[in-house]
Amino acid sequence: MLVYPDERAPIARLLRFLEQGERLAHDCATAQAALAPEPGMRRFLLGQARQESYHAVVFQGAIAWLAPRHLGACPLLPPLERYRALIDQAIRQGNFAETLLAEQIILEGLGEAILRRIEEGLERRKVAFGRLRRILLCQEEAHHAFGHRMLERAFARGETSPEALRPRAQEYLALTEEMVTMLRDLFESIDEDPSAYASDARRYLPDWLVPAGANSAVMSSEFLVLSWPGSATTKNSTLTTQN
Ligand SMILES: [Fe+2]
Ligand SMILES: [Fe+2]
Repeated sequence: MLVYPDERAPIARLLRFLEQGERLAHDCATAQAALAPEPGMRRFLLGQARQESYHAVVFQGAIAWLAPRHLGACPLLPPLERYRALIDQAIRQGNFAETLLAEQIILEGLGEAILRRIEEGLERRKVAFGRLRRILLCQEEAHHAFGHRMLERAFARGETSPEALRPRAQEYLALTEEMVTMLRDLFESIDEDPSAYASDARRYLPDWLVPAGANSAVMSSEFLVLSWPGSATTKNSTLTTQN
């Protein structure tokens, strides 16, 4: 058993956050399928919804495996719920492009970055469902790439533009910044060289959203000091080596 008793609750809280993110992704993809203008998009989104539902079960299982006596409140959930409210509003307004930005681009980008960062810690602690997590990561990459492709296509067709999406994007990014700040608090150790991850993390947001040299919410210093609780993680052992 490599997970120490005092690690169970923080790890479980992190997994609870990821599980709720998967549920949000499922609900969003289901609604997006109804908004999507082309059959191919609808098929992809319905497939994504099925996968997200499965992902939630994976995390739920990992939480049950950890079974901490006291999970405690997860401070990451309130900003995630506010994020959901913004997406719900975009869905009600039929703003397909904004849902792509919020779900596949920003939220899935953050999720993918977190998953890559924590994977080694989970592996080392022999947290269950290792192979499933790797499959999950591949699927998340596909969802994220789909969002990029669809938005680029919408830009090319003149259906929307970066200028139109940027103001709303700031609201979503402000909420992810809240989540990222809380993640920092959740993790105990601070990496020695957080700047080493900047370039990897930045690639999860498109250039038009993060102009060169600008510090977006997700790219703030809080994001860059994420590391696994209690681990002696070095800059060579996390995200940079997994790509
Ligand atoms: Fe997922
Ligand atoms: Fe996803």
